[in-house]
Amino acid sequence: MNQQATFTRMQDGKIEDWMVIGAAHKVHFGGTADRFINMLKALENHTLGFSCNQLHHALMTATLARRSGASDEEIVIALCHDMAKVINVPNHGPIAAEMMKPYISENAYHVIYNHQAFQGEHYYQYLGAPTDLRKQWVDEPWYDLACKLVDEWDAEGFDPNFEVDSLESFEPLMRKIFHDSPVPL
Ligand SMILES: [Fe+2]
Repeated sequence: MNQQATFTRMQDGKIEDWMVIGAAHKVHFGGTADRFINMLKALENHTLGFSCNQLHHALMTATLARRSGASDEEIVIALCHDMAKVINVPNHGPIAAEMMKPYISENAYHVIYNHQAFQGEHYYQYLGAPTDLRKQWVDEPWYDLACKLVDEWDAEGFDPNFEVDSLESFEPLMRKIFHDSPVPL
């Protein structure tokens, strides 16, 4: 079988082409966990004025989650909640949520999508923005998890002297959640 499709216009594609493309995509899906792990590693280059770099922050957030008895999915979203800051900071929550969407629950998706608005309770007064944005979601089924992630793990996760668990220690969980069979969108 050809290793690449032969069409130059999608309108001309044949089943053989799409079988090649499908097989290549399956291989690509298998690299998702590694791509996310590499994004986490890249966070080490971003300190953004905080007291620790963003990789340490991600690891501390996930370590606090794991030590409090969080589920595997909760630990992984805690680890990855800020990973999109390597791409774009202002809307890093929605970007990360969309990247993880095929692999995580709807509740976890909403938690990550909106985590910055929840976090605003702790600092938006310094930006002249409302600090009570989270109130609008108080009846949502993911509200309590969002409060826990933001208040108990994320907001607490900026101590450069805290002994974090290693990124390697989270890799089995990353590979479990970000497997090679994402839910089609
Ligand atoms: Fe964070």
